[in-house]
Amino acid sequence: MSVRIVGSVNTDILVRVVRPPAPGETVLGGDAQVLPGGKGANQAVAAARAGASVQFCGALGRDSFASVARTALTGAGVDLTHLRELDSPSGVALITVSEGGENSITVASGANRHYSPADLSADWTGVTHLLTQQEISPEVVLAAAQRAKQVGAQVILNAAPGRELAADLWPLIDVLIVNEHELAQLSGSGDEEENARSLLQRGLSTVIVTLGSRGSLAVTSTGTLRQPAHPVQVVDTTGAGDTFCGVLVAWLAGGAELPEALRAAGMAGALACTKLGAQAAMPTRSEIEGALRSPGA
Ligand code: RIB
Repeated sequence: MSVRIVGSVNTDILVRVVRPPAPGETVLGGDAQVLPGGKGANQAVAAARAGASVQFCGALGRDSFASVARTALTGAGVDLTHLRELDSPSGVALITVSEGGENSITVASGANRHYSPADLSADWTGVTHLLTQQEISPEVVLAAAQRAKQVGAQVILNAAPGRELAADLWPLIDVLIVNEHELAQLSGSGDEEENARSLLQRGLSTVIVTLGSRGSLAVTSTGTLRQPAHPVQVVDTTGAGDTFCGVLVAWLAGGAELPEALRAAGMAGALACTKLGAQAAMPTRSEIEGALRSPGA
């Protein structure tokens, strides 16, 4: 079972603050930390640490930020055969993390914006699961989903950051993962379970909604699953959603059924909130399994 992740790769410059600045305001924070990030790369690292065989498709520039990202992906055991180097700055994210662990993120997309369908690998042999997100162009997301479908792979879309989905993308998606805000963007405000269920009419088999401290919700044609959150001391929520997505796909690719995968993903997302940074906070498979065996889990 091989997971292919098509997405963004950034270097995160992260600063802790008491609270984020209001418009026009300057606030003083802690020391800047330079850390590997980007939703696609984060999900690749999360899935690889969770034991999946992962190939990453995306783009870096030719600058010093590229080596931060490359070192982290390689260190996690992610296959970078399909990583492209473009004549552009690498992606960078400016992140402030407030005392409660909530973050504000501004992304300078750089090479991620220039990554095009022509840069995607032509060889999809052996790919069983595609996981992609929306920090790259809609054209790349669509092309990746089309190629995944041609080889019979499951298509999992994490619709983050939120944006409209192209009409021709919907029928290609098997599993959609959104947070509350992204769900509201796609289906309007109101009851989250009803809204998630309404998206099934687009032809998906599963809609998963991550609900932060309320856990997660999965809606399929046969019913609804609710996974409560595992309570933790939150330090930084950056990358928690990416951890959830990567671990969910790693578990599914390993043959787990949805309830088991949802439980592991929820636990991994919770563990990722207990440390600073995105990839820096992601648990290994044995850490996730250990936490799942702990009393009260
Ligand atoms: O989801 C968290 C990620 O969003 C950060 O690592 C940052 O790079 C942005 O892409």
